[in-house]
Amino acid sequence: MSSIANSFRKQAWPLRILRLWLGVTFLYAGWNKASDRSFFDVSSPRYIGRQLLGFSHGSPIGSLLRIASRHGLIVGWLTILTEMAIGIAILLNIASLPAAIGGAFLSLTLWLSASWNVHPYFLASDPAYFIMWTAYALALLPKKRALNGTKRTQVVNLDRREVVRIGAVGALAVAGALLGRLFQSSPTRKTQAKNNAGGNAKKGNSLIALSALPIGAAHHFTAINGDPAILIRTGNTRVAAFDAICTHQGCTVDYDPATKTLICPCHLSQFDPLSHAAVMAGPAPAPLSEISVKIDGTNIILV
Ligand code: FES
Repeated sequence: MSSIANSFRKQAWPLRILRLWLGVTFLYAGWNKASDRSFFDVSSPRYIGRQLLGFSHGSPIGSLLRIASRHGLIVGWLTILTEMAIGIAILLNIASLPAAIGGAFLSLTLWLSASWNVHPYFLASDPAYFIMWTAYALALLPKKRALNGTKRTQVVNLDRREVVRIGAVGALAVAGALLGRLFQSSPTRKTQAKNNAGGNAKKGNSLIALSALPIGAAHHFTAINGDPAILIRTGNTRVAAFDAICTHQGCTVDYDPATKTLICPCHLSQFDPLSHAAVMAGPAPAPLSEISVKIDGTNIILV
């Protein structure tokens, strides 16, 4: 414990802040995936394999991502364990330089995949993490004057104590990931609970009076499965409704009357309500789920 405190004390404040932020964020990123019920659920749009397939469109490492998407379980667990191990290693000051290089490599991979279609680029976080990790790794590089004689040998060789410490990081990462699986939850379900307050719509229910929804306007409601949903009047006698859970990572999309599209605030995926919510832009791997609605006399009802 005291060696961790000492390692913090020896660092300048900017490095301490960077170390804490990067360590905690990567640890949480691993936990977030491990505790997400949908992450390994092949039927979910948030399944890691589907996400990888979605990222592959237009990505410079698209062919690699397509191969990875066929091994979602392995890639998912590797990602979780790597993120947790890097976070723990950085916070505990164990093999910090390899961990920082690993963090930079992982962030670069995410930049080339998950963030590649985010425009402008500065809205994505992965490029920023790549730069932060690279800067931290450079700050950890041994000073030139220390690289002589026995000191050089120490940099290259790992002593037994260090090997045990690295093993402990691996064990902690596995324990953290398993704990995450024990406390699984689904962001979608949380959203559902929030939206259930008004009660779910039922088949045959009137969602809104036709006269109350001008052409081009949207109406929010709760779908039968509890998800937030959006009804849009696309024409005089045409309406369309969609589950508002983004097929990328489960954020709630909203209708933008200016562009007449559905837009996800998280990574800016854009869906076309006139074409069954087909993906127009962004990393979403699939259209939004369509909900059957129709105009029945003076009302719009759920079918
Ligand atoms: S959650 Fe990423 S684009 Fe919607």
